[in-house]
Amino acid sequence: MRMVDLIEKKRDGFELTKEEIQFLINGFTNGEIPDYQMSAFSMAVFFKGMTKEERVHLTEAMVQSGDQIDLSGIEGIKVDKHSTGGVGDTTTLVLAPLVASVGVPVAKMSGRGLGHTGGTIDKLESIKGFHVEITNEEFIDLVNKNKVAVIGQSGNLTPADKKLYALRDVTATVDSIPLIASSIMSKKIAAGADAIVLDVKTGSGAFMKSLEDAKELAKTMVDIGNGVGRKTKAIISDMSQPLGFAVGNALEVKEAIDTLQGQGPEDLYELCLTLGSHMVVLAEKATDYKQAREMLEESIRNGKALESFKTFLAAQGGDALVVDEPSKLPTASYTIAVPAKQTGYVSEITAEIVGLAAMMLGAGRATKESVIDLAVGVVLHKKVGDYVQAGEALVTIHSNNENVQEVIEKIYSAYQLSDKKVVKPTLIYTEIQ
Ligand code: URA
Ligand code: CA
Repeated sequence: MRMVDLIEKKRDGFELTKEEIQFLINGFTNGEIPDYQMSAFSMAVFFKGMTKEERVHLTEAMVQSGDQIDLSGIEGIKVDKHSTGGVGDTTTLVLAPLVASVGVPVAKMSGRGLGHTGGTIDKLESIKGFHVEITNEEFIDLVNKNKVAVIGQSGNLTPADKKLYALRDVTATVDSIPLIASSIMSKKIAAGADAIVLDVKTGSGAFMKSLEDAKELAKTMVDIGNGVGRKTKAIISDMSQPLGFAVGNALEVKEAIDTLQGQGPEDLYELCLTLGSHMVVLAEKATDYKQAREMLEESIRNGKALESFKTFLAAQGGDALVVDEPSKLPTASYTIAVPAKQTGYVSEITAEIVGLAAMMLGAGRATKESVIDLAVGVVLHKKVGDYVQAGEALVTIHSNNENVQEVIEKIYSAYQLSDKKVVKPTLIYTEIQ
């Protein structure tokens, strides 16, 4: 087999076989196929697309390019959740203990944040003592015992994807739905999930700006998941503004605690219940969505969800007392309100810019080596559709540095105000299965 023939075949719009796709992924991973040929191939895929079968073969080849996590020692159906990026997305912190509290095993492999999106591990580390440096054996034991545990990314997962994603990034081939879908799905599958719930974001702050594109990406991922034998479902949710109110590590932990008590932001609560209900159904702990949702709501009402969070934190060395006394979380020295300059309705809050503002305060990493400040961030007081009077606080900045002029400017550039009434955006557009 020669790579040049495969490039030509794709360029001319023909379908590649499983063997051909394996050949090119293996060759690229081990360095036999050079970057320039893989670049040309990616561009051919960008223009010609891939069939359903090709996408499944591509995903499987990438899964097989590295280690695969074996979760077979955990009883029950392991359901994972994936969100396609977001700012202030506190859902994992809420969902993991919430679905665990009704018996769904949550074996979560998580990463640290890079750039303006935060990582779940960073957020959890704002709880004193909490750590994810546990052995695979401890991880599996903890999930069997408490139904939830989080471990740091280890091993050599999907090296083909790592290499291909880096190449796509510099060859203008990231925005290809088959390539995005196989990239995301290969990582979830290698991490060992039996079933997967996807939260595909749409709107100004998302990868997929239009609803049509988000639907296509979701359908493509669902077909890949089901095609490789993992039950997969997707919802499309709004990212025309940050989710919830808090953006920043300890601030989001506080927000998660509030939500697990039923007192969090409405959008975060609703999204967590929607995703959680699908997870419970896929784990076969409920027969339908309605029953699953009732179980989760009851768990929040009777305190089991919160109890599950405490157990999980304590089992990994964390000070579970913060759940009852969030004032024990790291706090910033300065809180600075940012007042609205005019009266009107909030029409947009660009999530990426709010994320950047939080990063400037030290909440996120500019490079892998950056040390982050767990206490700092931004808390929104006004969301899209809200009426605001000149002088009222749009957000509060939590900072350990008194001089936040640049951050304030960022916040102003993120908020758009309109004289006309603005309807609140739909949070959940549709389900894809
Ligand atoms: N996220 C991924 O993991 N892969 C892509 O290709 C795009 C977004
Ligand atoms: Ca949030």
